[in-house]
Amino acid sequence: MNIIIDKNLKLELISLSHADELYRLTDDNRKFLNKWLPWVKQTNNVSDTKDFIRNSIKKSKEKNGFDCLIIYNNKIAGVIGLVEINKARNVTEIGYWLGEKYTGIGIMTKSCKVLTDHCFKELKLNRVIIKCEISNKASQHIPERLGYFKQGVMKRDSFYNQKYEDNVQYSMFKREWNKDSE
Ligand SMILES: CC(C)(COP(=O)(O)OP(=O)(O)OC[C@H]1O[C@@H](n2cnc3c(N)ncnc32)[C@H](O)[C@@H]1OP(=O)(O)O)[C@@H](O)C(=O)NCCC(=O)NCCS
Repeated sequence: MNIIIDKNLKLELISLSHADELYRLTDDNRKFLNKWLPWVKQTNNVSDTKDFIRNSIKKSKEKNGFDCLIIYNNKIAGVIGLVEINKARNVTEIGYWLGEKYTGIGIMTKSCKVLTDHCFKELKLNRVIIKCEISNKASQHIPERLGYFKQGVMKRDSFYNQKYEDNVQYSMFKREWNKDSE
């Protein structure tokens, strides 16, 4: 799956050929990412990144979700994907991250917009969720910019760095998204 967003930006389904470059991006941004993403501490060499990619390919084959590389000016800038697809409830959750030098220019808002669109138009899902830690304002701004509904705060929802954190849950529904794009 490839989605062209504009002349500098595209989403490309993750594959093992990207492992070295993706590990380098993770390693170069360890300090920036570590604050929010628990898997960073467990990613210590390229074979850890390969394990992630293999699991992602399996998930994709089983139609339980997928992960895309965000390619900006022909370089990997980050990852966005569907954490899982709950087929019984027709709902999925989007997760994302960028290398620090790629932040502040709208890459994630644009990527999240096309992926949300893909969820409704191609996958025919009914709802897309984005969950952000309550202190992660940069992350919350993305669903807010795209018109997602703030559904509420889930108390003590994640446990990371030896503490529990509240999470804000945002949702977008197919009928609301279609209304905006008509
Ligand atoms: C969360 C994260 C992806 C947000 O990155 P970001 O750069 O703020 O998001 P975007 O790429 O959408 O860029 C938005 C910024 O670009 C600016 N911008 C410029 N052009 C823009 C455009 N066309 N559209 C939207 N925003 C634009 C916005 O004003 C905003 O800048 P600001 O933060 O100074 O207000 C990033 O901080 C990150 O990877 N953090 C670490 C991992 C993480 O937290 N992941 C999420 C876990 S829930």
